[in-house]
Amino acid sequence: MALDVDSASRPDGFPTGKRVLSGTQPTGRIHLGNYFGAIRQYIQFQEQNEGIYFIADYHSLTSIRDADERRQLVEHCALSYLALGLDPAKAVLYRQSDVPEVHELAWVITSVTPMGLLQRAHSYKDKLAQGGSVDHGLFSYPVLMAADILIHDADYVPVGQDQKQHLEMTRDMAVKFNQTYGELLKLPEPYILKDVAVVPGVDGEKMSKSYDNTIELFAGQKALKKQVMSIVTDSTPVADPKDPSLPVFQIWNLFATADERAEMAERARRGGLGYGDLKKDVLERLLAYFAPARTRYEAWAARPDDVEDVLRAGAGRARESAAPLMEAVRQAAGLGPAR
Ligand code: ADP
Ligand code: TRP
Repeated sequence: MALDVDSASRPDGFPTGKRVLSGTQPTGRIHLGNYFGAIRQYIQFQEQNEGIYFIADYHSLTSIRDADERRQLVEHCALSYLALGLDPAKAVLYRQSDVPEVHELAWVITSVTPMGLLQRAHSYKDKLAQGGSVDHGLFSYPVLMAADILIHDADYVPVGQDQKQHLEMTRDMAVKFNQTYGELLKLPEPYILKDVAVVPGVDGEKMSKSYDNTIELFAGQKALKKQVMSIVTDSTPVADPKDPSLPVFQIWNLFATADERAEMAERARRGGLGYGDLKKDVLERLLAYFAPARTRYEAWAARPDDVEDVLRAGAGRARESAAPLMEAVRQAAGLGPAR
């Protein structure tokens, strides 16, 4: 079983012939949770739709404050997408900061957005509840996200469950704008990735860069081995039955067919299975599964100018659709000379 974007399972009702857009924040190294929970599905859309993908570097300003780190993470994100199957001949990949129309639209939208709407955002409320200091960027983040989407007349926006509220807010903002200045902005349909399982991290909690419990797709072999070997288990002796719902089995399952999973659950319950051997098998399967992607990652990494060309060409194409919409918005709102 190797990584194959085209044949990965497609959920029912998968849209075709639509403009599909999604963004990724360059805030950490891509891990198994990001891939199985989001990126795999995003990339599938490029086959039968007009796919627009961007690296949300402006969004990362609220959490990353180091310029070099941001550039490295943007590069890593671009390499990861290309390695995982995004085809620049089929889909658009760009860096958010290369398309300034997004910001122009964001200011127009923010001016018709009620404070109450933003005050209800989980992203903001959660941060407040944790006692963290909240800057205005985090508070107004849903406005920038709305502009990301609305500037392209996107039909569908595939996102994880955690982003659902932001999409509802995007629709509310588009309605407000349209009521104020005329029907210019298209209301996007959310495409919530419901059937994707939450991938556990090595400590058994949800895998997340914030918990420092990730298994990275593109880490070196040694680092990867360390991450896999640190997956939490219990102290059940080898001979005894094991609980097949433990994180180590859930992670193994990512690289197994349905039949193999059923067989493994049976073996676990029978006893005689050692966790050390199981983890070695996880590592072997993971490396085999991502071997083509890891090779492509290295190949792109050796040609940074070509990666930059992909991003620039992507931004050019993104601006071709963004500029006319922004001009229509300017005209509708009475900004700049009348044409
Ligand atoms: P992190 O949790 O590491 O900060 P992000 O929040 O940047 O990752 O995740 C980007 C997307 O990846 C999310 O919207 C979510 O859909 C998906 N994702 C992240 N972690 C997981 C996970 N452990 N299992 C499934 N999907 C995940
Ligand atoms: N907020 C998204 C996340 O944290 C990233 C994102 C920014 C996005 N703008 C977007 C996703 C527009 C979809 C559409 O994962």
